[in-house]
Amino acid sequence: MGLASGLIALALLVSPVLTLVPPNQHVIGVEPTSNLKSGEKIRQKLHKAEIIPTVIDDFIPSLTLDVKWSTDNYASLGNTLKPKKLQDAPSISLHASSSGKSAICSETTRSFVITLTDPDAPSRDDPKWSEMCHWIATGASFSSSDCSTLDLDEVMPYKAPGPPEKTGKHRYVFFAFTPQNGTTDKLYPSKPKDRQHWGYDGPDDNGKTHGVRDWAKENGLVPVAANFIYSKHKKQ
Ligand SMILES: *[C@@H]1O[C@H](CO)[C@@H](O)[C@H](O)[C@H]1NC(C)=O
Repeated sequence: MGLASGLIALALLVSPVLTLVPPNQHVIGVEPTSNLKSGEKIRQKLHKAEIIPTVIDDFIPSLTLDVKWSTDNYASLGNTLKPKKLQDAPSISLHASSSGKSAICSETTRSFVITLTDPDAPSRDDPKWSEMCHWIATGASFSSSDCSTLDLDEVMPYKAPGPPEKTGKHRYVFFAFTPQNGTTDKLYPSKPKDRQHWGYDGPDDNGKTHGVRDWAKENGLVPVAANFIYSKHKKQ
């Protein structure tokens, strides 16, 4: 392969990742290829669970988002966990890819916003309260040995998932956002005035609901990572 075609191939490989990164920030990830693969895989799972496009517009995750309540209870893109295991806010970490060294370590401080939303309130068949805002927190990652775990400040306190009886499985969806303008300053996103509908109006005549997407746009935030679990009441 000649130098020119090599460069073109490289540009093609890298550009889908680059487009997600605010202009004045470095690309996270030393291995764009593996990043792209795992990002594409996560995107497909989000599609399959109808999180894309119901909850968020299509995007390719550039980071993986680890969400862990305890050693045995963590989110893995659509596993099912019992509500009683989710009582306290989980710990959150971000990684450049599912394997290998997290390149976030070599980055300077980056600010993130973490959210948790339930698009299936009170049930997936009848989402008239959707979306329910369960959590908004801001966090920064610093270059350090424990580089990827976020220290979080809550904007909307964590409300543990509590799917009502006989409402089936709910999707509980986590996102990590970064500011679109690329600022590394501390973020102060708005606090919704209500958890229900994230403070917006209820579903419109076509059943379109409002939630985290509207809120993120309003706050100049773009998604860079996602994860989700299913949970249901034991009485069905
Ligand atoms: C960048 O975006 C953040 C988040 O929306 C906002 O708080 C901040 O004021 C913006 N900064 C500039 C310089 O526009």
